[in-house]
Amino acid sequence: MVRILRVDPLNPRGEDVAEAAAVIRSGGLVAFPTETVYGLGADAFNAEASARIFKAKGRPADNPLIVHVSSLDMALEIGDMPDRAVEVAKRAWPGPITFVVRKRAELPAVVTAGLPTVALRCPAHPVALRLIEAAGTPIAAPSANKAGRPSPTEASHVVEDLGDSVDLVLDAGRTFFGVESTIIDVTREPPVLLRPGPFTVEELRDILGDVEIPPFARGLGEADVALAPGMKYRHYAPEVPLILVDFDLASATEAVRGLGLRVAVLCLAGKCADADATIYVGSDPYEIAKNLYDALRRLDKTKVDIALVPTVAERGIGLAVMNRLRKASGFKLAKNEAELRGLLGR
Ligand code: TXA
Ligand code: MG
Repeated sequence: MVRILRVDPLNPRGEDVAEAAAVIRSGGLVAFPTETVYGLGADAFNAEASARIFKAKGRPADNPLIVHVSSLDMALEIGDMPDRAVEVAKRAWPGPITFVVRKRAELPAVVTAGLPTVALRCPAHPVALRLIEAAGTPIAAPSANKAGRPSPTEASHVVEDLGDSVDLVLDAGRTFFGVESTIIDVTREPPVLLRPGPFTVEELRDILGDVEIPPFARGLGEADVALAPGMKYRHYAPEVPLILVDFDLASATEAVRGLGLRVAVLCLAGKCADADATIYVGSDPYEIAKNLYDALRRLDKTKVDIALVPTVAERGIGLAVMNRLRKASGFKLAKNEAELRGLLGR
């Protein structure tokens, strides 16, 4: 049985943090909460421990990990942070933004998948920060899900996916944002957004001026391997085929039911409809982000033929929500009933 420690998200007990830090220092794996999603952590300077992360997740070896630090100083030792990244980090860290920079320290090749760059992030969750500080070493951590599953937003998701392959789970309840950090590649000019997240592009542009948003960062098609070598892998898609609906949800649902199909509806931003299964996600962009992955996990447990989800505005954290939904739907979006029938092959 995996050991699970319940901790207070804002004020974890010193002895619990110390126990988890000892596991990290001795080469073990600790699942821990961050403000975005749960991470599966190992000592970033321990090649064997970091390799165990890939094994536990079933993650391909050429998909690099994010290295989590507890301070800007720790980040500066590991990566060559350009001035403009430091400027953003000073305002945004600890927080949900990850910088891809040239690496400086001799990190094990397994962590960075042999790339000359490293992804760095200082998480804002008190438990994550205390853990890194107590371990006294940067922590390499991807999201703590099996490869191809939604990221975990509560400890039960971690246990469901990874079970005994983790040495210790720090359970601090649900994570705050629910979608993974924003990733920006600052080795390029202009900087390139690799993944939208809670730290918004609007805020980034305020500080950096120009930021390039390639189509895949909006969830429009597969990732550009030259920019994001690890993002080519099958991203999460529910077992139930999911279609984004960019017109009246009630009439879309009626049309699908009229074809004799059982349908589930994910309700977002006040848009909902009567269906065989109705999963409430949220009414505002932050509530939607927070509940999204749990809703997708629940969708997989329903017995329906097809699932529909309305679109949300691609502003603020809505850009991250739409990116995850476009990928989960396999890029299927219907603007009207005819397109919906086309996607259903009817
Ligand atoms: O919110 C988050 O970022 C969470 C928490 C645990 O911090 N972590 C997370 O890690 O989402 P992961 O491994 O699931 O996603 C990290 C992404 C992957 O798509 C990986 O390919 C990309 O970051 N990445 C890591 N290092 C990179 C690099 N040097 N260049 C380009 N992409 C990189
Ligand atoms: Mg992940």
